[in-house]
Amino acid sequence: MQKLDISQNISSLFGTILVAHDWPDSERLNRQLAELLLAKEQSPGNPGTNRSNAGGWQSPGNLISWPDAPVKELKRRIETIVFNLTDRIIRDRDRQRQFRLLIDAWGNINRSGDYNVVHTHPNCMWSGVYYVTRGNPDPAIPQNGLLELLDPREAANYLQISNTILDGREFIDNAPGRMLLWPSWMKHMVHPYIGSGERISIAYNVNVIEESPERSRH
Ligand SMILES: [Fe+2]
Repeated sequence: MQKLDISQNISSLFGTILVAHDWPDSERLNRQLAELLLAKEQSPGNPGTNRSNAGGWQSPGNLISWPDAPVKELKRRIETIVFNLTDRIIRDRDRQRQFRLLIDAWGNINRSGDYNVVHTHPNCMWSGVYYVTRGNPDPAIPQNGLLELLDPREAANYLQISNTILDGREFIDNAPGRMLLWPSWMKHMVHPYIGSGERISIAYNVNVIEESPERSRH
């Protein structure tokens, strides 16, 4: 093969953004969030809702407005990621642009046998998840409790060779303190969790609203 440097000739058209950020020093926050969600699950009048989960418990979608300090810290983390991402993706940097966020979040508690079916999150721009506890997944089970992101383009699996950067499936480890963000149209699922304890995560949807220049001047 003739060696040719084509790095300057390649662009990634219609790329799919995935942010995966590991927040440092998250042990205390994660402990507080886990205690909060486990208490909510047990409290009367909190039967939970059902979105994508098959088994497991999902809190109502108003988590982000709970008055608890750890929720406020989580909200700050989501805002930090989304504002930094927005700043990175906009093209016209020569004018002042103002954005505000509308966030909807809910807690997930999966125990042995629970999983989440393939789904997308309609009516928002970004979706993601923050991992609180990993539980004790049985290492003998492949993809135990892992998030899988799927390439939504119908023809993406026409690729004839495997194990390339164009693979149509991506598995993400649910390390506590890890925060993920992806476009809301991206299909995803959570493989069955098999093990003791709880796999706890907090999922969220984010709408990014651009303030009109007239409004932001006042
Ligand atoms: Fe989801």
